[in-house]
Amino acid sequence: MSYDLIIIGGGPAGYLGAERAGHVGLKTLLIEKRFLGGVCLNEGCIPTKTLLNSAKIYDKARYGEKYGVLAGDIKFDHQKVLTRKNKVVRTLVGGIRAQLKRNKVEVVEGFGKIIGKSSKGYQVKVYDQTYTGKRLLIATGSQPIIPPIPGLEDGLKKGFVLTNREILDLKTIPERLVIIGGGVIGLEMASYFNSAGSEVTVVEMLDHIAGETDREISNILLKNYQKKGVEFKLNSKVVRVNDSSVVYEDDGQEYTLKADKVLISIGRTPVIEGIGLETIGVETEGRAIKVDERGRTNLPEVYAAGDVNGKSLLAHTAYREAEVCINNMTGKRDIMRYNAIPAVIYTNPEVASVGETEETAGKKGIEFEVANVSMRYSGRYVAENEGGDGICKILVDKKHRKIIGVHMIGNYASEIIYGAAMMIETEMRVKDVQELVFPHPTVSEIIREGIFQL
Ligand code: NAI
Repeated sequence: MSYDLIIIGGGPAGYLGAERAGHVGLKTLLIEKRFLGGVCLNEGCIPTKTLLNSAKIYDKARYGEKYGVLAGDIKFDHQKVLTRKNKVVRTLVGGIRAQLKRNKVEVVEGFGKIIGKSSKGYQVKVYDQTYTGKRLLIATGSQPIIPPIPGLEDGLKKGFVLTNREILDLKTIPERLVIIGGGVIGLEMASYFNSAGSEVTVVEMLDHIAGETDREISNILLKNYQKKGVEFKLNSKVVRVNDSSVVYEDDGQEYTLKADKVLISIGRTPVIEGIGLETIGVETEGRAIKVDERGRTNLPEVYAAGDVNGKSLLAHTAYREAEVCINNMTGKRDIMRYNAIPAVIYTNPEVASVGETEETAGKKGIEFEVANVSMRYSGRYVAENEGGDGICKILVDKKHRKIIGVHMIGNYASEIIYGAAMMIETEMRVKDVQELVFPHPTVSEIIREGIFQL
């Protein structure tokens, strides 16, 4: 069977690419080995946000007294949370299926393997059926990194160690949860399991949590977690996983943490095994498929988008990368820009950022100014966040007075950050933002407040 485009992988890059391709009239085949929607919809972005929302509601009820709301016997029913999570996932996967159908995309379930090229195009095999595509979009995503720590593989086999996949279906809340890695997944899961009643300890190799996040913000986040009772072992490296404990090393000394479950979340890596890249000679860089700013690989009409290109590992980046690929395939020149991609950590409080941090701007030699304002300048924030200690930082370059970075900690940050991304993407200057009207009272006004301090 012949197609204008074959897409391997049905995650955000794959399904959105397929929808866009179908929409512009390309005869498109989408191949997915596991679930439509990929990691994001089935075992990442969406299920975790569903769980975290239940935890937020629970926390609001438990600590409602601060707001004059006294609830009685509040219980957290993890089983019901899981049932609802599965329903949300089913609904959204159904939505994707419908969208693909609307755009006349054919979907094949199975493992797609590239087997070569003929005069008609690239050949991809699923079970014993061979499909031919004039173009290919590889969107096979990423998987958790499993480091060679003694006992880890064994722990995974026994169900003592979990990845982001298994932890989302854990039937009971573990009494003691040890999380290896204090990055995005580790922190979101620490937030949920801490609210749900686990004793959570996060072991992080670096001297700070939340990776590249602005350091002042990651410190505020750390303090918020510690106040809730989450333990952190920073500058600590896990050296061994035993049957019911994790051993880590700090400053040459070994310590043991008892655990009922362990989550491994030390990063993700592109999935390229077994998909036959070598049969046509797709160039890789480390484990990532090498692409240019138009999403093209080294081969004509072969594109790659999403986590498999190793650039950003975010679902929203994958969406845009897929669109860039489809546009370029169909003769519309389009390029991918990475300077204004927002990043959010859906903890409570939320962290959101876009653009340069003081650290990255400094490294690039950009001369900049920073406004650093307390979220307490926002009336809405004060009304809704008793005792909140959020901040918002805005970076502008000294030469052109353009906005180059915005970083926030405080609730609703996840919903506000796209506005800041637009300011950076459209190269707005301080005076342009000063002329904008923000709705009052909203937490978004914090940007206006910060801008007038510059
Ligand atoms: P990550 O890269 O965010 O964090 C991994 C952390 O583990 C880092 O802080 C690192 O220093 C630490 N680490 C590495 N090796 C270690 C070791 N041996 N012992 C202790 N700590 C160690 O990776 P994570 O959390 O696994 O997330 C993977 C990807 O998924 C991220 O790239 C992220 O972009 C994406 N993601 C995004 C979300 C969002 O946008 N809200 C939510 C969840 C995941």
